[in-house]
Amino acid sequence: MKIIAGPASKELGTRVAKLLNAEPVSVFSKTFPDGESYVRLEGSVESENVVIVQTTSPPQDNRLIQLALIADAAKRNGAKKVTAVVPYLAYARQDKVFLQGEAISIEAVAKMLKAAGIDSLLTVNVHQEKVLEKFPFPAKNLSAIPLLAEYFTKEKVVKEAFAIAPDKGAVYIAEQARKVLGGECGYLEKHRDRYTGQVSVEKGEFNVKGKTAIIFDDIISTGGTIVAAAKILHELGAGRVYAACVHPLLVGDAEKRIREAGVEDIVGTDSVQSSVSKVSLAPLIAKELKELLSG
Ligand code: R5P
Repeated sequence: MKIIAGPASKELGTRVAKLLNAEPVSVFSKTFPDGESYVRLEGSVESENVVIVQTTSPPQDNRLIQLALIADAAKRNGAKKVTAVVPYLAYARQDKVFLQGEAISIEAVAKMLKAAGIDSLLTVNVHQEKVLEKFPFPAKNLSAIPLLAEYFTKEKVVKEAFAIAPDKGAVYIAEQARKVLGGECGYLEKHRDRYTGQVSVEKGEFNVKGKTAIIFDDIISTGGTIVAAAKILHELGAGRVYAACVHPLLVGDAEKRIREAGVEDIVGTDSVQSSVSKVSLAPLIAKELKELLSG
């Protein structure tokens, strides 16, 4: 197996290659003055199972094109099979038509990746797992929530914390965290205005008074969801409030706003390299690749 650490996931890709003892193939990339992307593989992939590690966090369009170009280069240079490891899968939230006239963005992205030469895909905490069923190649989702919860038990020595999902659709995330944290879990009711993007969050049926609460979400983008959830948890008398997410996009001043809302710490993964990326996805991805390629 050969691992290509794409320009967006150089560190993570290198960690995965090390854990697997797999040969890394470096890729040269640049952007032309007019904004177009360019890639060139700097090693042989002839007759190999090739894994491309490339997250597609902002700038999403640029990183998706880089991924497609690397897949094309791999196939053109004789790769037997190309597996894309895309920890943060861009466009996954537009997984249906919400307002008439919209595209199903994630389906368009999947078709584009297939056309570029990708044979299978591995992602982490995709917004809705069922979206992967519509992909034109095998696609699997892994969950990093247990790793994030473990960080709290080991590094923060938090005991029996209350795991909170910011909306009902994410309750499975809070459930996964609860299993590791050993406390209770619950969810808030979130509403997002489809035209303005404004988020409002309502209380759920649970008691966090005096307890340590950890809000678990797949993505932190503008921080609006976590800020609204943290305010409610403080109103409900939570002792300490933390936030954990798999994909810390942290757009603009999201981190500052979250801290100002009384969140003691934010813990994210290296799906998106950021100031809060304290947990690495490398062991999770390496374990899965090992099983995939031995089976
Ligand atoms: C959406 O439902 C996701 O699970 C996240 O809650 C959302 O993407 C977070 O976005 P923001 O940080 O902008 O509120």
